[in-house]
Amino acid sequence: MPRSCGKIILFGEHSVVYGKPAIAVPVKEVFTEAIVEPSPVFKIVSDFELKDNENVLLKNAIDVILFELGIKNTDFLIRINSTLPVGRGMGSSASISISIIKALSLHIGIVKSENELNRIAYECEKVFHGTPSGIDNTVIAYEKPVHFIKGENIEFLNIKMPFTLLIAGTGKKKHGTKEIVADVRKGYEKNKEQYSAFFEEMGNIALSAKDSVTRGDIQHMGRLMDMNHEYLQKIGVSSKGLDRLVKAAKNAGALGAKLVGAGRGGNMVALVDKENKEEVRQALLHSGAVGIIETLVR
Ligand code: MEV
Repeated sequence: MPRSCGKIILFGEHSVVYGKPAIAVPVKEVFTEAIVEPSPVFKIVSDFELKDNENVLLKNAIDVILFELGIKNTDFLIRINSTLPVGRGMGSSASISISIIKALSLHIGIVKSENELNRIAYECEKVFHGTPSGIDNTVIAYEKPVHFIKGENIEFLNIKMPFTLLIAGTGKKKHGTKEIVADVRKGYEKNKEQYSAFFEEMGNIALSAKDSVTRGDIQHMGRLMDMNHEYLQKIGVSSKGLDRLVKAAKNAGALGAKLVGAGRGGNMVALVDKENKEEVRQALLHSGAVGIIETLVR
């Protein structure tokens, strides 16, 4: 069954929308998969629940894919499964789109290159999110750590020293990415000078993190993650639940911790090492974390 991974943004969510650098890594421990099966009527069947409006968006995104692949005859159903938490900052929309592009390509006997998967998935991301930066579809299409600047060449990162992350959910599905990004835009429009300075700093953090991520300098990376979380708080996209988990992870010895993705619920990530990993995991659980995912970034 054609499959795509999840992702997290290590540095630079939101500021990436304003053209600042960001770093994202694939999370291969979780995935979405899609398959096309014969059916007299077109149907989408999934093993996860979507609200009515989300179903409409998914259907619209699939229309984009059908158009891009030149498929007119829709005498099939698309079955989608996900082990990836949907709507929790892990790139579920991009991952689902890419799994469907792969499944439909297979159905018509073609193989799409990673560049093509990325391009078509970006069109789908526009359906889901309005004005996406394109970072989610990029990291998931290529399944490689990326240093990303909107509209510029993608730079893949060669990780010399693998490091471990714990990703934990607040248990609250985040509000729609589109709405949160639009809220941040409102804040920016109201106070351009201050928000521009915040975005600039977030971009500088991501830029400075590039070297630590590739070299595996986890001490420095951790400090930068903490700083990034503070800026995300300043632009109003954190939540009580996210802050509680970030604090719990830090108190238990995590090298750094921050929210991931659009925010306001969803997931956070903690950078851990061998010595503190279990303690951080227990502290997160104790603070109400759900669905903890451990991933080795390499
Ligand atoms: C969503 O995963 C990340 C955001 O920066 C939006 C985007 O990059 O399009 C919040």
